[in-house]
Amino acid sequence: MTRIAVFASGRGSNFEALAAAAREGRVPARIALLLSDREDAGALDVAARFGIEAVALKPAGRRGALDADWEAACLAACRRAGAEWICLAGFMRILGPSLLDAYRDRVVNIHPSLLPSFPGLDAQRQAWEHGVRVSGCTVHLVDAGVDTGPIVAQRAVSTEGVGSADALAARILEAEHALYAEALERLLAGGWRRDGRRLVFTHSPEGRS
Ligand code: GRF
Repeated sequence: MTRIAVFASGRGSNFEALAAAAREGRVPARIALLLSDREDAGALDVAARFGIEAVALKPAGRRGALDADWEAACLAACRRAGAEWICLAGFMRILGPSLLDAYRDRVVNIHPSLLPSFPGLDAQRQAWEHGVRVSGCTVHLVDAGVDTGPIVAQRAVSTEGVGSADALAARILEAEHALYAEALERLLAGGWRRDGRRLVFTHSPEGRS
């Protein structure tokens, strides 16, 4: 069974969706570690409920800054847990080269917009304020940029009948919970390769490519 580390900074609803999918066998993986950069993250409570080992590692530096010592501690925690993949789920830090090199093409993130539209913070509000008719969510591999890595899967969400940025965020979140597990299942099944920034699926149960 593939061992996974999930990194989360906040309430952890995507982490919870992944943990439930793993427990129910919808994703052939074991979540071996929940790592948070905050000691007050709701995700830590989710980990306790699921009996998943959790660690809070607080970086010394400010948000957005790379912190080599912190990153080395994260890498050590992942290795101790035997993690083969890292899933970011609302993780508010940028990963630097040591983690990305150690887990090349095996770090995944979920972002609440149809990338490359609306990267960065507050994506749902950006989309809402722009007045888009369709937004959604994206699962992508993580590279050194912010929300720039190769796209694994996307799901569109209509803004029809949505009255606020918060309502749009809630609608997108529901899609995120389903999409993340599906995309991870597909990645772990293998049968894909990278062609530049395109992911090419060479086989899939549904015959998609
Ligand atoms: C989600 O919208 C995710 O796409 C974004 O941060 C949010 C995290 O929410 N990266 P949660 O902590 O998973 O509930």
